[in-house]
Amino acid sequence: MTDQPSPYGGAPQVSKAPRIRIPHLKQMKVEGQKWAMLTAYDMYSAAIFEEAGIPVLLVGDSASNNVYGNESTLSITVDELIPLVRAVSRSTQRALVIADLPFGSYQASAEQCFHTAVRFMKEAGAHAVKLEGGIEMLPQVEKLVSSGIPVMAHIGFTPQMEHQLGGYRVQGRGEDAQRLIDAAKALEAAGAFAVLIEMVPGDVGRAISEAISIPTVGIGAGNQCDAQVLVWQDMAGLRSGCLPRFVKQYADLRSVLHTAARDFALEVNAGTFPGPEHTF
Ligand code: KIV
Repeated sequence: MTDQPSPYGGAPQVSKAPRIRIPHLKQMKVEGQKWAMLTAYDMYSAAIFEEAGIPVLLVGDSASNNVYGNESTLSITVDELIPLVRAVSRSTQRALVIADLPFGSYQASAEQCFHTAVRFMKEAGAHAVKLEGGIEMLPQVEKLVSSGIPVMAHIGFTPQMEHQLGGYRVQGRGEDAQRLIDAAKALEAAGAFAVLIEMVPGDVGRAISEAISIPTVGIGAGNQCDAQVLVWQDMAGLRSGCLPRFVKQYADLRSVLHTAARDFALEVNAGTFPGPEHTF
């Protein structure tokens, strides 16, 4: 599955490796090959994750908390997220870059959703968008897909609905599981290319993954999903304090940065930086 050169010209492709496309993700599900997705919000993180072999990068509305310092994802605006998506898409050649649609920018109607998604594609270079919600989002998904905009759906715990859902709670327990399975099937039928499933019991994550032929991306949804996603600051140990149960920290970046900043300050205080080798 290799891209042909664009018949329309344009900037030459610098990367030798082909861009990850939706059919690649579908093929990986067919082959039972699991893949990892990370959030990214800037140039360095995006380039490093791509180099490390992460095929899909999500510029999540979690930038609201992790970049802008807000308490929830509800605050971030389209105008605040667009520059971050642009930074990620500019600094990667291979990864599929997905832009999250912020709260209030798509729920009102399929038309509103279309106009917001088009901004992310045109102004920021996103390759796909993600939106939260189940069957109530079918008109939005259909409109985007029929307009050529790939959509990742997001079900289970949907952070933009935290107030409606009564806080950060596991979804899909007991009889509620069927509602999520039905939603995933309907979203697939509407044309979504993948379904992100957040905070559901592991057996529900598995049941949804078996019920649909498009990839599922789990976060707190057990290990039977086709892919897994984490917020990068959680994955790399930049965030401190109480973490959700589904987070695994693969590094302790907080201490690394802390030590580097402290040593820099100590050397400046002591007058040992800059040394002769750093001086013109
Ligand atoms: O915005 C985000 O980071 C998300 C997570 C569920 C990955 O949507």
